[in-house]
Amino acid sequence: MASTLIVPTLTTLFSLLLLTPQTQAQAPAPSPSGNLNLTGILDKAGQYNTLIRLLKDTQQLTQIQSQLKSNSQGATLFAPTDNAFQNLKPGAINDLTDEQKVQLILYHVAPKYYSLSDFLTVSNPVRTQASGSEGSWGLNFTGQGNQVNVSSGVVETPINNALRQQFPLAVYQVDKVLLPLELFGARSPSSAPSPKASKTTPEKPSTAKEGGASSPSDSQKDVNGAAGRNVGLGMVVGVGLICMGVLSS
Ligand SMILES: *[C@@H]1O[C@H](CO)[C@@H](O)[C@H](O)[C@H]1NC(C)=O
Ligand SMILES: *[C@@H]1O[C@H](CO)[C@@H](O)[C@H](O)[C@H]1NC(C)=O
Ligand SMILES: *[C@@H]1O[C@H](CO)[C@@H](O)[C@H](O)[C@H]1NC(C)=O
Repeated sequence: MASTLIVPTLTTLFSLLLLTPQTQAQAPAPSPSGNLNLTGILDKAGQYNTLIRLLKDTQQLTQIQSQLKSNSQGATLFAPTDNAFQNLKPGAINDLTDEQKVQLILYHVAPKYYSLSDFLTVSNPVRTQASGSEGSWGLNFTGQGNQVNVSSGVVETPINNALRQQFPLAVYQVDKVLLPLELFGARSPSSAPSPKASKTTPEKPSTAKEGGASSPSDSQKDVNGAAGRNVGLGMVVGVGLICMGVLSS
């Protein structure tokens, strides 16, 4: 009895071993992710013209698509509608520097595929493409039943509509632009290092970049503290940047 059971098992094992090289040989053929057309997905849905333009202007469209090919974890995009952009304060986007626009777009991309139900159990905050190693620029998810909200700390909005929910790419409609705490939490810093003032020398843009890179991590330490302290620190950083601007001009 025992040996008759073992023989077919060995045969199966053996044929599996024989099959394996074949399946491996087939694997390098372009996966569906290679053919993913993000513009197509957004275009078809019809109400994402501002987002498409921003994705193109910031070069992030190609960036996301090439990441989908190289990153085995997939990606999730939160897609604000045209209405969401229209409902922002006038100038909210135009007043951002090019670097901040890139950060804003990166903030809407998670470097991992999440299905809607994943958000119910995910541990907050969730990293975005804008997140540094210290975990700033995160998103928080709260769920009840099958309703999921996403929060940036500045805005909170439900996630209802999945434009696409299939590995490696998920695209969810959001009716509000996810304004990161690091850019919109305290209003003052955005007025500090004017990109126009940096025309004079090539050195100044890099100092401005350092300022921009260090302030998110500074305020990140504070994200764990009281919201009031966060605003306070943001203002101190903002005032500091303004002072630096005054001194250097
Ligand atoms: C992606 O979709 C857009 C809009 O539907 C189309 O214009 C474009 O040619 C497509 N790109 C590719 C690579 O298929
Ligand atoms: C989601 O946010 C809405 C307000 O936008 C709120 O009314 C609702 O209770 C929130 N739901 C969850 C699950 O947090
Ligand atoms: C996420 O939640 C944590 C813990 O409640 C909080 O400290 C943090 O400020 C929140 N971050 C955002 C982006 O909402």
